[in-house]
Amino acid sequence: MNRIWWKEAVVYQIYPKSFYDSNNDGIGDIKGITKKLPYLKDLGVDVVWICPFYKSPMKDNGYDVADYYAIDPMFGTMDDMDELLENAREYNIKILIDLVLNHSSSEHKWFQEAISDSSSSYRDYYIFKNLDGEKLPTNWRSIFGGSVWERSEDNNCYMHVFDKSQPDLNWENPKLREELYEMINYWLDKGVAGFRLDAITFIKKDQNYPCLPTDGEDGLVGLGSVCLNQKGIGVFLKELKEKTYGRMEAMTVAEAPGVPYEQLDEYIGDDGHFSMIFDFSYSDLDLSPDGNWYPQTDWSVKDLKEAIFHSQLSIQDVGWGALYLENHDQPRSIDKYFRDEDCNNKELSFYLGSVLATMYFLLRGTPFIYQGEEIGMRNCPFSSIDEYNDVSSKDQFERAICAGITPEEALKVVYRRSRDNGRTPMQWSDCENGGFTHGKPWLKVNPNYREINVKNQINDENSLYQYYKKLIKLRKSISYKDVIVYGAIEPALKEYDNIVAYSRKLNDIEITVITNLSSKQYNIPIEYKENVLSNYMDIDYNQSKKEITLRPYEAVVLVK
Ligand code: GLC
Ligand code: CA
Repeated sequence: MNRIWWKEAVVYQIYPKSFYDSNNDGIGDIKGITKKLPYLKDLGVDVVWICPFYKSPMKDNGYDVADYYAIDPMFGTMDDMDELLENAREYNIKILIDLVLNHSSSEHKWFQEAISDSSSSYRDYYIFKNLDGEKLPTNWRSIFGGSVWERSEDNNCYMHVFDKSQPDLNWENPKLREELYEMINYWLDKGVAGFRLDAITFIKKDQNYPCLPTDGEDGLVGLGSVCLNQKGIGVFLKELKEKTYGRMEAMTVAEAPGVPYEQLDEYIGDDGHFSMIFDFSYSDLDLSPDGNWYPQTDWSVKDLKEAIFHSQLSIQDVGWGALYLENHDQPRSIDKYFRDEDCNNKELSFYLGSVLATMYFLLRGTPFIYQGEEIGMRNCPFSSIDEYNDVSSKDQFERAICAGITPEEALKVVYRRSRDNGRTPMQWSDCENGGFTHGKPWLKVNPNYREINVKNQINDENSLYQYYKKLIKLRKSISYKDVIVYGAIEPALKEYDNIVAYSRKLNDIEITVITNLSSKQYNIPIEYKENVLSNYMDIDYNQSKKEITLRPYEAVVLVK
């Protein structure tokens, strides 16, 4: 059993723009995070991952970095950051920051030099190509829609995997790589405990820049096969680790789409590039695999559980995983994983939230809680596309309209998956704007804040917030910590399609987690010694039959 601090940690993800506004300008900020450290301590988390706060024109809410060494004024100052780091240390909370290394903002000084002067040494920090007449170098589609190529001045263009305001950095250039390493070391020296690495599997491109058969009405083709996890990327990732966080026991969690399970060892094995990666196989179950604009696929709880266990068992074979339901790119989990009729039933809210929480929190890996998930925040209805902020939602809307869909229908499509669902301000209380700000919030506050808010739930023993606290306590309890953190995972009760269940085993301790992700009732034969957690008041066990009756959306954790 190889004990490492980040395996034992519980992480909380903060989207700074929407967490807490300390100066009432309508935008969350770093001082706001410092103010809420007692809240995070009460919840019981050990690590906080903060999404980008660097100087940025905010075309993609900070994932377009204009200066990696500066704090954007909307979030505060470097002094605020130092103060946060210092205060967090007192609370014994570690800070992870987001590293955006695949691209910078088009307003970064490197890019400004590169685009204004083709002989600048910064030109080679990016991917510029000569245009052959009108023809673009390739027909690849960017993640947010449209070509990956943007015309610059005379007969030139540059590449962007994401928005055109996010030009890709040229990792083939050793000078660029050294600059990035220096910057990462600057932050390590400041005392951050590690990093979340944004879109890291995109950094290597197929150097032949081939044109491919198109796969959409726009005449373009998804770029996965030429820009994701390309041969040779390991050389860059190894060097990155060696020259930066590899010198200490830092925690690194990579956003790493496109890594097949057979290759996990290179990423998260003993000598892997990262501590853990986010696997999207189950959180993106509802997305059509070809990246088209309409998101809904038909999926069942059975598909979900198969995807979860495939992921868990593949990761268990080689290394460590990151567990999550939500993040700043996902809709709220209750809305994603359950049917509308159940979501609309307020009586069920607590059960829906707590059954999902139990389901993922005790899997094998380090759990991440996304802000607001712990109080069951929900998707937010927006009445027009103009109310949205997210670049990808706006792009999706346009693509839907181009495909002949009515604006009303298109809005419905956007609503399901918009990243703004997870980005509306944190709901702290039932005061105006959910207690997030006294100013005008930068993005609409979900109107349900009067019912769903931190203040209500902290004072209610039976709230989802209190349930999350219990889950964290269980994970950290002397009796069960080792089995929950280090125990092996094995799927259980496979024959029940709507139940996700598994056991965790270490030496002679075994716990079984059973979660009913449906409104059906099940009678399940099982024997146990102790019930250590459940989301109903009691558990319905028939001693003579040795059978548990699992009610709608019930979750139980049993010790064998
Ligand atoms: C990642 C981030 C997302 C961002 C994108 C481009 O997927 O999570 O929010 O838009 O990278 O940086
Ligand atoms: Ca503010």
